[in-house]
Amino acid sequence: MSVLVTGAAGFVGSALARRLVAAGEEVIGVDSLTDYYDVALKHANLAAIPAAHFTFVNADLNDADLDELLAGVTVVFHEAGQPGVRKSWGRDFADYVDANVLATQRLLEAARRAPDLRRLVYASSSSVYGDAETYPTREVDLPRPLSPYGVTKLAAEQLCTLYAKNFAVPTVSLRYFTVYGPGQRPDMAFNRFIRAALADAPIELYGTGEQVRDFTYVDDIVEANLRAARSEVEPGSVFNVSGGSSTSINEVLDILAGVAGREFRVNRTAAVAGDVRRTGGAADRIREVLGWRPTVDIESGLRAQWDSLSGAGSLAGKA
Ligand code: UGA
Repeated sequence: MSVLVTGAAGFVGSALARRLVAAGEEVIGVDSLTDYYDVALKHANLAAIPAAHFTFVNADLNDADLDELLAGVTVVFHEAGQPGVRKSWGRDFADYVDANVLATQRLLEAARRAPDLRRLVYASSSSVYGDAETYPTREVDLPRPLSPYGVTKLAAEQLCTLYAKNFAVPTVSLRYFTVYGPGQRPDMAFNRFIRAALADAPIELYGTGEQVRDFTYVDDIVEANLRAARSEVEPGSVFNVSGGSSTSINEVLDILAGVAGREFRVNRTAAVAGDVRRTGGAADRIREVLGWRPTVDIESGLRAQWDSLSGAGSLAGKA
């Protein structure tokens, strides 16, 4: 019996795989190692997963033999996907449809046939809400994405729910709110800010910096996955996983300046299409049903990410 992590070479997938192996699970990881960001970082993520209980399969979910991959698998953590809110316009949209929608639908079809499967956890996204009508936003509030990326994450989430309703595929969708911490993808804000600061280069700030995010620390995201896998909640359930820190990007820069002990140079550029003004998730449901709550506040989490990048040398990445 084993556990399958899709996107195992990525930020969240690799952190989850490490934790699962540490907890004594036999883990299969699948990843197609796309070059959306430096593939060396993905290899480094894989190398950090203890090899004795980890099998890596280099494959694309859109053409892999999924029946073979799911043989004997009891839990799937579906972390694979094409990330990046701001890049999802124009011709790139096809990559988002392939990696987020078509791959998920193919995985769900295979999940219908998988005899041992008792849980499929899908990595959904706060981007399904767009600029929400109310804050803190609850799972029952109207999803209305603002980016093509958000449209594909919502489509895949809806597929999970309807495969649960129609075919009893045991899905749970977790809507992650901007995940950060050591290992964060190099295209994401904190990673870019910290690398710029360490290189004494200007930090690039999109828009006013007054945009607010409910940043969530990666270890808390991993914990939510483990709880979702263990729980008996109804197939098709959806939960926000939100860190509880409604923090603006300007506030983030102040916190980072405190960590670094100096001010940074900031280069303000135009706001980017698809970027929402604010995210803020109500975490009542996940607290009540899964007993989950965030454990890492934004200051401690930013410091951990700063420390890991300032000590990581060549692993700091390029994006
Ligand atoms: C993040 C992830 O990239 C998505 O994959 C995920 O689905 C999404 O969170 C989510 O929660 O649903 P985002 O909130 O845009 O998306 O995360 P960051 O890349 O960390 O950006 C945060 C803010 O910083 C954005 O407003 C962005 O415009 C800004 N930013 C980013 C900058 O000002 N400068 C940069 O160099 C990068």
